[in-house]
Amino acid sequence: MPAPDLGHGTSPFAVVFTNIGELVTCDANIGEGILGVHRDAALVVEDGRVAWLGPSGDAPAADRRVDVAGRAVLPGWVDSHAHLVFAGDRAEEFAARMAGRAYSAGGIRTTVAATRAAGDDVLRGTLTRLVAEALRQGTTTIECKSGYGLTVEDEARSVRIAAEVTTETTYLGAHVVPPDIDTQSYLELLTGPMLDACAPHARFVDAFVERGAFDADQARSVLTAGIDRGLLPKVHANQLGPGPGVALAVEVAAVSADHCTHLSRADVDALAGSATIATLLPGAEFSTRSPYPDARALIDAGATVALATDCNPGSSYTTSMPLCVALAVREMRMSVEEAIWSATEGGARALRRDDVGRLTPGARADLQVLDAPTATHVAYRPGVPLVHQVWRGGERVV
Ligand code: NIG
Ligand code: FE
Repeated sequence: MPAPDLGHGTSPFAVVFTNIGELVTCDANIGEGILGVHRDAALVVEDGRVAWLGPSGDAPAADRRVDVAGRAVLPGWVDSHAHLVFAGDRAEEFAARMAGRAYSAGGIRTTVAATRAAGDDVLRGTLTRLVAEALRQGTTTIECKSGYGLTVEDEARSVRIAAEVTTETTYLGAHVVPPDIDTQSYLELLTGPMLDACAPHARFVDAFVERGAFDADQARSVLTAGIDRGLLPKVHANQLGPGPGVALAVEVAAVSADHCTHLSRADVDALAGSATIATLLPGAEFSTRSPYPDARALIDAGATVALATDCNPGSSYTTSMPLCVALAVREMRMSVEEAIWSATEGGARALRRDDVGRLTPGARADLQVLDAPTATHVAYRPGVPLVHQVWRGGERVV
């Protein structure tokens, strides 16, 4: 691709990044390996989008030059699964679990009580703090679910507040049945007034299919009601034990089936034969001391895998996509390349986005500059804050 003419006057916003030791495009068609890597590269950003990439020596002149001195440049992480609108924390529950107590879906109710009692400003404060924390670790796109309100008003304000910080919002009224209502009445709320109140602020509808949460028929009614309102379905599937979540996700052509910790061979094959993304959330297994999902079985069967944090105060209180990449590599036997792809382009697919998670001409210029020469260092140097700069929409934000 010839270098574009970025002469004076072409765009006041043109930035050229030069001396990129390793540029990860996440497009196998335009570079080496599944990450589409270019070495000694340059990248031009114009009007918030990637305009050109090529050898550093061919870099055109631009209004601004950023010499990254041999560092790696990657797409910003796309965290496609997080629960960030809540109040309080559950540190004691975590400590008790580490001392031997089992994790159960019931802990969600503790956070529901705290969330209902909190003012909007408290919820907003926690949300913005977590989004900023994620950004400092390279996350430039983040999904956010409701699910700790569980009344019409509290679910609606949760998705409304989430929509203040991200376009990727999910209505998860079907998280658990709250204690103050019977299941049938709650299902009527979920598919009626609560959906009406939440749909204008949400892109996705999600349901927690699990013993102690919702069964397949109940979840199907919530998902199909959401689909009828134009929402895209997602499913919390097979997290705590085997069950019908993945089969339901594939049946309703869900964008993603999330968790996928306890899968049968039929579940793996169903995902591999569908367009539903298998979103794996190793932070949850780490923080609940559970077996990790079988990423290899999914990838080897041909399923598309995304990695996300599941950030929430109960089962996975982390915003760190680098931690999830490191766990996926060390504990789930994903290759470094697979894990980085799943945390960027894979996450974008789990959100039906084709403008993020990659650094190809036309994509949003959402990128991270690592204080490391290659992307491998994300997993090779676990727990080390390697983010040197973060740019979003062509502007430096970290
Ligand atoms: O994704 N699985 C259901 N929801 C959350 C946990 C929520 C909680 O424990 O508060 C999850 O892990
Ligand atoms: Fe979750």
